[in-house]
Amino acid sequence: MIRVVIFRDYRELSRACAQVLIRLIRREPCTVLGLPTGSTPLGLYRELVNAHVRGEVDFSSTTAFNIDEYLDLRIGHPASFAAYMMKHLWQHINLHPERRHIPSSMPVDPVEECVRYETAIRDAGGLDFTVLGMGVNGHIGFNEPGTPWDTPTHVTTLTKATLARHPYWKARATIRPVQAITMGIGTIRSSRRVLLMVSRSEKAPMLERALTGPPTVDCPASSLQGHPHLLVMSDRHAASRLVKSLEDDSQHRHRILLTSSIEGIFSE
Ligand code: GLP
Repeated sequence: MIRVVIFRDYRELSRACAQVLIRLIRREPCTVLGLPTGSTPLGLYRELVNAHVRGEVDFSSTTAFNIDEYLDLRIGHPASFAAYMMKHLWQHINLHPERRHIPSSMPVDPVEECVRYETAIRDAGGLDFTVLGMGVNGHIGFNEPGTPWDTPTHVTTLTKATLARHPYWKARATIRPVQAITMGIGTIRSSRRVLLMVSRSEKAPMLERALTGPPTVDCPASSLQGHPHLLVMSDRHAASRLVKSLEDDSQHRHRILLTSSIEGIFSE
């Protein structure tokens, strides 16, 4: 059964996602997280920083692996995901520098960097809890439609459409990065728990398709349907089509539980 928790707006969604992570870290301080970038988790990171400042969460034993990073961007480039993480999370919390991981954007050998990253995840004991965003075309990390589901961390070629949505690259059509390193769908699916965080109405058609459509490589997020511990948290805008389709599903073909509460999330 996939549990989908729906919130009135982005603020409530962000707060609730932060609560889920805070409870997890309090319960399992040594947890190994997978973390996304993009616009969706910005509110979540803000809430985590505030909670840390209030003394409500201690990251000192936690380990985190970012999901992806551009290639061929100088270290510290403002559009790199490492710079994003530093700005929005790392510099504000006590996650030990040795336990915050992100693929290098300037590796000597990108393929070796992928192997190193996948090995580092394995050596940390594997991902316990991965937070994911989703692209409007259903991509997760930089796994675009067509990516096989057993892939480990790998080098991928960026699509123009995905890059054009990023505010920084939107304005710089001629100097966009060409490739990225991303955890593969195989890496993501191996995470013991997955939280898919979705907001905004533009994601509504793809969220519906990802959870109720046939699982297919054309929609990378649909690979999560079979995950034994998938939790989806969405604002009501992104969940609108899904809710409608479940209302029409009188025969309950889809094994989806809609709720508005995060209570009991770790009790199963
Ligand atoms: C990017 C990232 C993904 C992210 C997705 C959605 O391409 N590589 O990790 O989840 O787009 O981004 P946003 O949250 O800005 O909609």
